[in-house]
Amino acid sequence: MEPKGDIAVIGLAVMGQNLILNMNDHGFTVVAFNRTTSKVDDFLNNEAKGTNILGAHSLAEMVALLKKPRRVMLMVKAGSAVDDFIEQWLGVLEPGDIVIDGGNSLFQDTIRRTKYVESKGLLYIGTGVSGGEEGARRGPSIMPGGSPAAWPHVKPIFQAISAKVSDGSPCCDWVGEGGAGHYVKMTHNGIEYGDMQLICEAYQIMKDGLGMTADEMHEVFKEWNQGELESYLVEITRDILGKKDEDGQPLVDKILDTAGQKGTGKWTVISSQELGIPITLIAEAVYSRCVSALKDARVEAAKVFKPSNPKFAGDRKQWVSDIRKALYASKIISYTQGYMLMRAAAQQHGWNLNYGGIALMWRGGCIIRSVFLGEIKKAFDKNPNLTNLLLDPFFKKAIKSCARSWRKVVSAAVKKGIPAPAFSTALAFFDGLRSERLPANLLQAQRDYFGAHTYERIDKPRGEFFHTNWTGSGGRVASSTYTV
Ligand code: 6PG
Repeated sequence: MEPKGDIAVIGLAVMGQNLILNMNDHGFTVVAFNRTTSKVDDFLNNEAKGTNILGAHSLAEMVALLKKPRRVMLMVKAGSAVDDFIEQWLGVLEPGDIVIDGGNSLFQDTIRRTKYVESKGLLYIGTGVSGGEEGARRGPSIMPGGSPAAWPHVKPIFQAISAKVSDGSPCCDWVGEGGAGHYVKMTHNGIEYGDMQLICEAYQIMKDGLGMTADEMHEVFKEWNQGELESYLVEITRDILGKKDEDGQPLVDKILDTAGQKGTGKWTVISSQELGIPITLIAEAVYSRCVSALKDARVEAAKVFKPSNPKFAGDRKQWVSDIRKALYASKIISYTQGYMLMRAAAQQHGWNLNYGGIALMWRGGCIIRSVFLGEIKKAFDKNPNLTNLLLDPFFKKAIKSCARSWRKVVSAAVKKGIPAPAFSTALAFFDGLRSERLPANLLQAQRDYFGAHTYERIDKPRGEFFHTNWTGSGGRVASSTYTV
């Protein structure tokens, strides 16, 4: 009998199961496999009952059920499990077959695995899949990269199951070679960290500075979700603030204030350090989670340094409007930085990234989906070579119209001792970027003073380096000049 399976999905945790059901809904015959094979039967007898989903209880059975070239997609925890599966598959798959990793893998691992699998004659795809459980089931954002020759074979499946924007365009397209897909997904997650932190800072300022209740903030987020901030994360924040515990009190107030993290935000910051790109807002978002985790230390310090009166004076309605503008301006900075990062990574790795296409992929299905990404898409449609989002006329105007409120909110938070690290760093970055002259002249002088590290002069061509014997007692030899 001819094999019927269009694709196999390995790993029947929440994302795997929902992707399989989504593929089934779109008419694909999926082979489900799991290392603990009892899970396969459990899935077939419950969630997959009455569908065309096939179960496999061994890799050999899975392979026999698949049409050629075989497409096998891993939905397992990132890390060594992916390497283990690849090793096992290389024993049962054939040249031309396609191995897909849909987990949150580190992009360097994906670069390595693409090369390795290709060296064995097979093709590899490392793809970001965003949208959580609901996205996987109803339409995620999918960001595939790896072996270009694999793309035509998975495109019909991935684009069918992905989210669509209003004109029907799929939130899935080929990102680039090697680790490009996982890099873009990592950046998405870093931006997700930033968006979440900005919302949390707005919440804390409204709560501590304006003394607002969860119900009142529920109404604010409801309103914000109807304007330029309309997004999945604002929408769920609205719902979270409206949710009551069994005793009728807001559930959010009962949740311990220490945040977890699974690593993709941290990877984004590490990559930015390696590339020398200041994604200051994402970095603050990651560090803010770290500060939140220092609960015991915070409780101790609060006993000594608790701000006496964090309340803002003035009209609450006006403040809420100012906070919305501060959030919006900071968000523009965060995406500006995220796009700067992807551009630098693309240059280093030789990826030809389509920045408007990435905005479209993020426009629907994923955690950071928003109306805002539609504006980013438009900016890149107008100017595909846009190097700085802030310079696009739409965002330039938006930043200008928010500037006064942004400064007002950051100043008030600083004055009242309410932490607003992401709002503040966004503003500091903006002020740094628009400063024609920064104090790095003095810094270069300091470096040259103590270590003969040399400096360039404003009255000489770039690339010519000078050393001054600042004390009169130094030697004649300058240190070599290089920047990492
Ligand atoms: C997505 C999410 C997802 C991520 C979680 C948890 O795009 O669907 O980004 O991939 O794993 O959001 O991330 P943290 O535990 O690091 O917050």
